[in-house]
Amino acid sequence: GDVAVLVPAAGAGVRLGPGRPKALRLLAGESLLVHAVRRIAAAPCVHSIVVAAPTAELNAVAELLAPVAPVIVVAGGATRQESVAAALAAVPAGPGIVLVHDAARALTPPELVESVAAAVRAGQDAVIPVLPVVDTIKEVSADDAVLGTVDRSALRAVQTPQGFRRDVLAAAHAAAVDPLTDDAGLVEKQGIPVRCVPGSEYAMKITRPFDLALAEHLLAAAPA
Ligand code: CTP
Ligand code: MG
Repeated sequence: GDVAVLVPAAGAGVRLGPGRPKALRLLAGESLLVHAVRRIAAAPCVHSIVVAAPTAELNAVAELLAPVAPVIVVAGGATRQESVAAALAAVPAGPGIVLVHDAARALTPPELVESVAAAVRAGQDAVIPVLPVVDTIKEVSADDAVLGTVDRSALRAVQTPQGFRRDVLAAAHAAAVDPLTDDAGLVEKQGIPVRCVPGSEYAMKITRPFDLALAEHLLAAAPA
């Protein structure tokens, strides 16, 4: 493989509710992180996996993942962006393509890892998986007055894994000032073009309790 996958997994999971850090919360008896890493490791393009874990859980994460796939575990930071930067610094020599993939997108199919990596390999600097926006989107004021209706046809909901030429991602992170919630945003700020590929509904981010319940049902209906 020619691809390193960075897995930010150091978040608290505040929106999921009280409990362990989100990446260690259980889905069908296994942690979200185990689900995510197993699917990443099943993609033939993957050379190495670097997980950014909660500082207090470094040993727990290494033990959890040892039977799943060979991984490098580093301490995450206070923001997702810092966690990604820490993981990026630990990528071994070799891979020329780096993917960044949220542990919280635990059911992401290996095929999406392959298709994002393939688009970078085909010559794109930066690639993001996207889905069309299905809801009508309104712009509103702070006091809930509707200001207007946004043209939905030009909008996309963005997922991970996001894929990059390794040097492009490294330069974008080196230049980063304000934290952003995705890595493609940092690359955009460098004036580098970012391309979309079709995402997957299974790459949904598990954010709130409803998402975890939905993921349980998806796994029960089609174990993967
Ligand atoms: N993440 C991280 N380091 C942080 C914050 C987030 O590695 N300091 C990771 C999370 O573990 C998750 C991904 O970034 O896999 C996407 O973040 P999000 O879904 O927001 O997870 P949390 O930050 O854990 O959730 P919340 O915002 O509800 O606390
Ligand atoms: Mg968060």
